Formats: sequence, C-alpha cells, structure tokens
Amino acid sequence: MNGAGYLHRPSSVGILACELYIPPLYVEQSKLEVHENISKGKYTIGLGQQRMSICSDHEDICSLCLTVLSRLLDETGVHPQQIGRLDVGTETLIDKAKSIKTVLMQLFVDHDNTAVEGVDNVNACYGGTAAIFNAIHWIESSFWDGRYAVVVMGDIAVYPKGNARPTGGAGACALLIGPNAPVVFESGCRATYMAHVYDFYKPNLNSLYPVVDGQLTVQCVISALDTCYTQFCTKSQMNHESHSHTHTSTLTSREVNLSTFAAVLFHTPYVKLAQKSLARLYLNDLIRACPYIPSAISEKYKNLDIRTLINDKELEREMIEQSKELYEQKTLPGVYFAQNMGNMYTSSVYYSLFSFLISQPNEEQLYGRRILLFSYGSGLASSMYSVVCRKVHECRFTLAQLQRSIQRARERLDNERMEISPEIMDKIFLEREANQHKVPFVPKQPMEILKSGDIYLKSIDKNYRRSYDKLISNDNSERDADNSNDVQQLYTDYFQNRQTSGDV
Ligand code: ACO
Repeated sequence: MNGAGYLHRPSSVGILACELYIPPLYVEQSKLEVHENISKGKYTIGLGQQRMSICSDHEDICSLCLTVLSRLLDETGVHPQQIGRLDVGTETLIDKAKSIKTVLMQLFVDHDNTAVEGVDNVNACYGGTAAIFNAIHWIESSFWDGRYAVVVMGDIAVYPKGNARPTGGAGACALLIGPNAPVVFESGCRATYMAHVYDFYKPNLNSLYPVVDGQLTVQCVISALDTCYTQFCTKSQMNHESHSHTHTSTLTSREVNLSTFAAVLFHTPYVKLAQKSLARLYLNDLIRACPYIPSAISEKYKNLDIRTLINDKELEREMIEQSKELYEQKTLPGVYFAQNMGNMYTSSVYYSLFSFLISQPNEEQLYGRRILLFSYGSGLASSMYSVVCRKVHECRFTLAQLQRSIQRARERLDNERMEISPEIMDKIFLEREANQHKVPFVPKQPMEILKSGDIYLKSIDKNYRRSYDKLISNDNSERDADNSNDVQQLYTDYFQNRQTSGDV
C-alpha cells in the first residue's frame, strides 16, 4: 500500500481469484414444459435449458452478494484492509438510493476499513462488466494505492408466467482483481456498442418483473454482436500494426477471427442464444472471407450486407449448421452453468468464462490462450473484449487455484442442489410477489436449504432496514439423493400451513 500513489505501472491486470454462488433450489425445465402445457422440447431443445435456479425468501440480492464476498475473503485469506475498491454490478434493485455496495461494507467496517471506493453499476445485464472495467481502470490509474479491487455481481432473474419465465435464473460471483493475474484483461482492444432501445426494462418499481419484448431483445443482441465484432477486429488490427515493433500489446497476430481464440463466450440468457451468437460471428467471418474458411464456401456470401440479415431465419439455421464444429469447440464448453442455472443477468458471461476454464482441467493447456467475451445488457449497452490465461510468477493466485474454486462450485451445482416441483416454484414466485414491499417482514420458508457459511436475510424492519446473519453450524454439505424429496415435502407442508393459517 502506498498513500502517495504507486510509482510503477501495474501490468497484467485481471482476475486473481473468484467465488461463485449456487442457489440451493432448482426446477427441471422438462417438468416445466409439462406443467405449463408447452410442446415437449421447447425449453430443453428450443432454448437449450436443463434446469433453472430458484431463490427462497431467505435469499435476496444482498444475501447473495454478501455470501460470495465473505467466502472470497475467507478462501483467499485476503484481509479486508487489503481491498481499496469494491464495485457491484446488478439489476436486481431493492433501493433507489442506497447501493448494495454500501450493504457489503459491513464486511469491511468491522475490520476498520472504510476507505473502499466504488458503488453500484446498473444497466440490465451489463452492470457486472461496467464494474470490472471500473476496477481495472482504478488499478491502472494514478489514484491506485496498491490495494486489490473486488467486483461483486449478481441477480435474481424472474419473469411472470408466460414464454419468458423459463429464461429466468439466479447467480452471483465475487472476483478479486489485481495485477500479475492468471486471467488478464487484454489491453489495447475493446469494442463497445450502446444505443437507446426499449427491448427489456424495469420501469415499474412496484413489480418484480421486467417489461420485455423478447424477439426484439434477440435482434438487439445480434446487431450489437455485428457492430462490436467489426469494431473489435478493426481495432485489433490497428493495435497490432501500431505496436508491431514494440512489445506493449499482448495481441500477437494481425488476423483476428473465430479460429484465433481458444473460446468465444457470450452473455447467455439461454444456451440457444449463445449458439446463435457464435453462428452470427461465423457469418461475419464468412462475409470477410477469413482464411480459415475454404474460399469455395465463403464465395457464396462475400457480397452480403450483414445489416439487412437480422431476421433471416433460414440464413440463421444455415449458419448454425455450418458453425456446429466451431460452436462445440469454442462455445459449448462455456455453457454448463447457464444451462443448469438459467440467466444470471450481470454475471452470465462470467459464468461462461468459469465454465470454460474448468473444461480444460490441465491449466498448462490454457497458458497463452485468448478468450473472446461478449457482454450484453438491454437498453442497451454491450462490449466485446478478450482475456488471456497466463502462468503467474511470484504470485499466490494461480490459474490452478482459480480452477479449484470454480470446480467446488460445480460440485455444489451437481451434487448439493435440491429439486422443487414447478407447482412449488409457482407458489414461491407468488409469495415473493406478495411480500415484495411488505414490512416488517421475516422470511419463513424452510431454512434447511441453507448451507453453513451462507449469509441469509433475517428480517426487514418497519423502516425497510434489512438484517442479515451467517449460518454457521448447519453442516449439510453431504446431501444425498433423498434430500430433494425432503425439501419438496418441507415446502409442501410450509405452503399447506400458510393456507391453513390464512396467511395466503
Ligand atoms: N421442440 C424444440 N424446439 C422448439 C419447440 C419444440 N417443441 N417449440 C419451439 N421450439 C423452438 C423454436 O423454434 C425457437 O427456435 P429458434 O429460436 O431457433 O427459432 C425456440 O424454440 C424458441 O421458441 P420461440 O417461439 O421463438 O420462443 P418465445 O418467443 O416463446 O420465447 C424468448 C423466447 C423470446 C427468448 C422468451 O423466452 C423471452 O422473452 N425471454 C426473456 C428475454 C431474453 O432472455 N432475451 C435475451 C437477451 S436479453 C436478456 O438477457 C434479458
């Protein structure tokens, strides 16, 4: 730490460590299709989703963020005084003035650290990316005091009954950001596309749900991809040319196309959209006649004007078919969390990164590999940028450790979650709607779903002040297959009791 500012420029700024939140409850998308009388396969094949995370009344946006931040500090051993900046990204708003960042300050004030810059970043699913950019810029600025930055992002994504509901979900993550990182945000090249669109927004502050024009959101994602990718490729080339005689750029090749990345990862509200996104970038490469595509194939597309092809379903199907192998290599390894948790809004693209990082268990294979990321938030704000994996020297935060943290989350996802039926899910949503602005409020749903170390919502007082507690003793890490039955029964009893007592 250096109060007078850091004299040397930090380099290789990126992700040092991470902690992921896995909500304990989920619903099977195949059962949701039956429950909602939807044609079989629409959610599981048409949208590509398997399971959707559901939050109980003990979980709100602050409890998710507090839990991942507290675990990040515990797992890394970083003392709260070593953090100089904390940025939050979310669109799950519970207050129009007080930021979630200030709620998270509870974990610092007790350790005598009130000198933590940063507040919340809000624009639909883009807030997490804005938070990361802020953290990086702070470390690279003259105001950096040598301490770490932390970014926390999370959301509870819920939709009313109807075609958007299966694209809900929940998730949160905390990232420790600093120099000499094993996953570095590449300097010199970032593409951004922002515009004014009403595709998905939350104007009704009394409602849990967004106003959404689903088909328009998809068109906006596709337009944003086209613009960002064109800009990214042009900037990369310019960057390469202007730095080709120096070593200040991490970009090593003049040519940028899909074949030059180890992975191409997207904001993933549902898996099918990630596949469509990759197919769209492939179309861009076809029109540019990139050398990895045989000219016999690209010839047919070379005179197309991509801007006129946003709604061409036939072409979309053709591109999905042609890019299948690229998708399987570069995008599919990144969709595991999204497929099994659903849309996590701000953290969605970062769960794609986590998923990809553990798809290659030998970290040596990842060294030097570049990963292309696309972040999209409705309204709209979007960016395309790249990270590179590197072997770190003289640093306690390694790629192998990062992978172990993600692997722990993957094990919780695969072995420790509890299934609830779509009927119980509907009741949880109805209760959440009814309780949204109720004060005083004490969550009453079964606490058995919580794990030791979770920070949960304890109560909201008559002045809307929320209190949280950490669950310490309840060691339920060894969940077995019967556990879901227990939880289903607990919830069934809970809602029956509520009905009998006239609470619902
Ligand atoms: N078996 C297999 N596939 C099927 C079946 C079936 N039985 N039935 C339908 N499908 C396919 C459709 O053909 C379609 O495929 P396509 O996309 O390749 O054309 C797909 O399933 C979806 O069906 P649609 O009729 O297009 O879906 P619908 O319009 O009902 O809803 C949507 C999809 C728009 C994504 C909706 O869920 C929504 O509004 N979600 C919220 C908004 C959203 O997530 N937008 C994404 C970016 S913005 C953000 O992240 C919030």
